[in-house]
Amino acid sequence: MNQEHAWRSAIMHCIANPTEVGTDNAYEYYPDGLLVVENGLIKAIGHAEELLPTLAPETQITHHPDGLILPGFIDTHIHYPQTDIIGAYGEQLLEWLNKYTFPEEGKFADKHYATEVAKRFLDELLKNGTTTALVFGTVHKTSVDAFFEEASARDLRMICGKVLMDRNAPDFLTDTPESGYQESKELIEKWHNTGRLHYAITPRFAPTSTPEQLALAGKLLNEYDDVYMHTHLSENVQECEWVQSLFPESKHYLDVYDHHNLLSERSVFAHGIHLCDEEMQRLADTQSSISFCPTSNLFIGSGLFDLAKADLFKVNVGMGTDVGGGTSFSMFTTLNEAYKVTQLRGQNLDPIKSLYMATLGGAKALQLQDKIGNLAVGTEADFVVVNTQATPLLKTRTERATSIQDTLFALMILGDDRAIQATYSHGQCVFQNT
Ligand code: GUN
Ligand code: ZN
Repeated sequence: MNQEHAWRSAIMHCIANPTEVGTDNAYEYYPDGLLVVENGLIKAIGHAEELLPTLAPETQITHHPDGLILPGFIDTHIHYPQTDIIGAYGEQLLEWLNKYTFPEEGKFADKHYATEVAKRFLDELLKNGTTTALVFGTVHKTSVDAFFEEASARDLRMICGKVLMDRNAPDFLTDTPESGYQESKELIEKWHNTGRLHYAITPRFAPTSTPEQLALAGKLLNEYDDVYMHTHLSENVQECEWVQSLFPESKHYLDVYDHHNLLSERSVFAHGIHLCDEEMQRLADTQSSISFCPTSNLFIGSGLFDLAKADLFKVNVGMGTDVGGGTSFSMFTTLNEAYKVTQLRGQNLDPIKSLYMATLGGAKALQLQDKIGNLAVGTEADFVVVNTQATPLLKTRTERATSIQDTLFALMILGDDRAIQATYSHGQCVFQNT
């Protein structure tokens, strides 16, 4: 869409971290706003009455009187190959991996299978208003090709990587330090910074990589300025004990990754539930980020993430669905569960902070805040039109809301994919709820 196009609706976005600047300074809200887009980028944002007179005469205006425009959501941790094992019954992490995850991931050796799942996965993300995600592939190189081909066909800003895994997994899912390094390198050369795509070096987690493989992953991270590192950290108590027995010389779980030079401002660690102060401090010092995945943490019984502690140590936190350990693609549902996790920890998660973590905080975790995460002029037009009256319950609840915070909170507690009216990526409509 090269021509100027404008959307008129209530509009809200975060401009800073509420924990740093205070809630009231962290967002902008336009009750009757206008978002002007040209060439896929945001050209203007403001009050409709102020901006309407500035529009070119031929500008098309789409009006959503009951809508709320938000930035596209950013999912900082998700597994596309686990789309079809979502909601698998009865296990915690290590058994869940062996019983459900590894057999399913084995199917991704078949590129056709991978492509078919990648299509459905992206459909799900977009119908839930998620426009960027940091995504695990499988150990198979072609699983990443399949994913990137589908993401590129839709011009989405997406990050993915081939899983590195050379031990403690079935033979059909393991690589070697050398093949993992080489194939990752080939994928980086092929896909990283191609269009809107980026590559993440993706060791599954410490127990499934030898020290040799982790060392080569660290070498690769050092060889490219701007690739990502994406892994799991301190999710489950048995996992933590296992890491300690596999790496007896390490001070703690994070130290295993640190020792292999895997901490950086482009490193995202999923979960981080059972971290000591020293680990939190080290994450902060290296500007690494945590992906908070509440639906997964509750569903596979991993534990309650300590958001207040992460804030205290000034560790950047984004939201992750962690599908298929997580049980929903919806960022609203994910924030609902995040609120409950903080309640159980005696903390309060306010809706502005929630929105921040699902948008700008996620963008900061990915070092993409100059491109996505809010609706600032010059950034990419990735946004969602939310219908605050999508269901009878939402309608009555949002009609009673006395502030935008309260409307947002109602959406987070009662909303899901039904509340997403339309999703736009780079100025193009990529999902429409008909
Ligand atoms: N730890 C190692 N692999 C996985 C995975 O696939 N899902 C989750 N939630 N944790 C993991
Ligand atoms: Zn995960």
